Amino acid sequence: IGVQQGLLFANPLPYDDEQKGLDTQITIHLSHVVAENTPKGQAASKFAELVEEKTNGEVKVHVYPNSSLFNDENEFQALQNGEVEMIIPTFSKMTTYVPNWQVLDLPYLFNTDEEVHEVLTGSIGEQLLNELEPFQIKGLSFWHNGFKHLTSVDYPIHTFEDLKGLRVRTMPSKTLERQFEAVGATPIPISFSEVFTDLESHAIDAQENTASNIYSKGFYKVQKHMTLTKHGILGYAVLMNENFWKSLPVKFQKQIMEAMKETTDWQFEQAVMMNDKDLRKLEQQEGFEIFTMSSEERQRFKEKLAPVYDFYKTNIQNDDVLSRIEKIV
Ligand code: LMR
Repeated sequence: IGVQQGLLFANPLPYDDEQKGLDTQITIHLSHVVAENTPKGQAASKFAELVEEKTNGEVKVHVYPNSSLFNDENEFQALQNGEVEMIIPTFSKMTTYVPNWQVLDLPYLFNTDEEVHEVLTGSIGEQLLNELEPFQIKGLSFWHNGFKHLTSVDYPIHTFEDLKGLRVRTMPSKTLERQFEAVGATPIPISFSEVFTDLESHAIDAQENTASNIYSKGFYKVQKHMTLTKHGILGYAVLMNENFWKSLPVKFQKQIMEAMKETTDWQFEQAVMMNDKDLRKLEQQEGFEIFTMSSEERQRFKEKLAPVYDFYKTNIQNDDVLSRIEKIV
């Protein structure tokens, strides 16, 4: 028994495989915003391969990278409307819907990739994914990208004082906005698909991201400086339209979850390796300077950002997630 794609969608779609009468073929359309050669892009391809293998080709996953189907601004709506079956937004972008997830945006909360792994793949991650229930969204897993650093156009950022007065692009998360306000910068939330052009036109002066996103999107071509700050993490929630999930035969649900578990285990290691490799490539770019913030300076930065925790605690009440994470980190 297959799920006929045509039955799930009321509107014409931006892709055409549902027109082909493949009535026993289930296709999962998976949309994401980054390049294919990134931790998320690679994991999406790996998941697609594993699903196809485990279901003997009865379920296919068609991956649309680089915001080619939906972008930051419309992907969540598209998922809720059933215009796409899967998306993989950063948890920061999901905080508009699930404010509690801002906990993961708190600056200098995590020290190592292992801590991130433990939190996101253990019972805390599960608790966070369960918060998606009211949205008719099934949270399948959390994935990792890595630690964020800063890049800037005109001046290097050696201390947090250098951020003062800069227009810094952020993902839409109140906690991330507070983080930049705490150092006198102006946070500007914009879609990932627009970051390159906004850096190029100097509409923004700086941005925070992982080495893999900075490299794969060529931000180093329009930024002269990068500062290794490791001030926060960037990771993902792997989401599926819940009606679609429920329409799947149990056999496929099991195989999809197995594929997701395997991809997630593989993904965490891969993400760390990829960010290391891309940082090496960034080091080789002519005219692009990388500065490592000293541990003393990072400590000062961390102290300066302490009010962000107060903001979080005041706004996110009855929340035990931060104290649970603090027992691990
Ligand atoms: C960003 O917007 O900077 C990142 O969320 C992109 C991504 O999905 O990794």
